[in-house]
Amino acid sequence: MIEVQHLTKHYGKHVALDGVSFSVDPGEVVGFLGPNGAGKSTTMRILTTFIAATSGTARVGGDCVFEQPARVRKRIGYMPENNPLPLDLRVSDYLGFRAELKRLANGKAAERINEVMEQCDVADVAGRFIGQLSRGYRQRVGMADALLAKPDLIVLDEPTAGLDPNQVRSVRHLIRDLAGRHTVLISSHILSEIEMTCDRVVILHDGRLLASGALDELMAKANAVVAEVKTTLADAKEWATELALGQAECVEQPGGYVHCRFANTTTDDVRETIFASANERGWPLRELSRLAPSLEDLFVSLTRGREGGE
Ligand SMILES: Nc1ncnc2c1ncn2[C@@H]1O[C@H](COP(=O)(O)OP(=O)(O)OP(=O)(O)O)[C@@H](O)[C@H]1O
Ligand SMILES: [Mg+2]
Repeated sequence: MIEVQHLTKHYGKHVALDGVSFSVDPGEVVGFLGPNGAGKSTTMRILTTFIAATSGTARVGGDCVFEQPARVRKRIGYMPENNPLPLDLRVSDYLGFRAELKRLANGKAAERINEVMEQCDVADVAGRFIGQLSRGYRQRVGMADALLAKPDLIVLDEPTAGLDPNQVRSVRHLIRDLAGRHTVLISSHILSEIEMTCDRVVILHDGRLLASGALDELMAKANAVVAEVKTTLADAKEWATELALGQAECVEQPGGYVHCRFANTTTDDVRETIFASANERGWPLRELSRLAPSLEDLFVSLTRGREGGE
């Protein structure tokens, strides 16, 4: 559904995208992950034909984004970052106006508008002015618009930004609901956000592609296990080296314990090995847990791998 090759975008002298390539299959829900300024919105704006690229190619549903923008636009429902909505229109009128722009058949538009309002949970504010809605409701009006024409590809730029936890949950449900029927591309700088909604991730950093693939496989690289054992710091360090489970950090704790953090580089769960080994040495073990990796851990592990595995 999406084929991007060597995509590069310069804003003046600033390189916002630097040779990014990735692809998305039909029906996939793909997360676009990266910190502020990584180039997520820039890529989305190029894919949705709103801005031109400096070089490279991008295709949506087989059509070149630069050569056939009208065909590409018909295929896409896009909710931009900080979606600018007309504040002086009522929700249903706005969606009616959008349906006209998207050339929805007249007879079907009203029915479809009701459907997306239900789906995005804005039916109860259909008659309210957009300017009077809370941010969360406005966000969902933007989503309703993106879904309106039943596009093959839905592009949502930070759909949960600024929402409260309940709204975040309902948007997540909605996104999961779209899976299978649509191809969905969602951007976020929050790892857990993407983890809950996406099958696959594309990770950008400073305009470059850092990694792409199944999130659980990437996360396994960033796995960390913590063990607290009662022994001396020197013995714990030696033990950690012998275990050879990956990079280990040992820090002394009050009460004669040592906190050992193993940056686990394998997909296997190493807790069993650690437990057995501590047991063998007769060391009391008071904590053994796997840490949920943060986006930061993932970046560190991915960039470390690139720089030749220090
Ligand atoms: N119109 C513009 N003119 C100049 N530079 C821009 C423009 N738009 C974006 N940039 C720069 O390009 C880089 C990528 O920006 P982009 O908005 O794509 O990042 P992002 O990953 O969406 O970040 P965020 O998480 O903050 O939304 C940033 O360094 C940004 O400052
Ligand atoms: Mg952005």
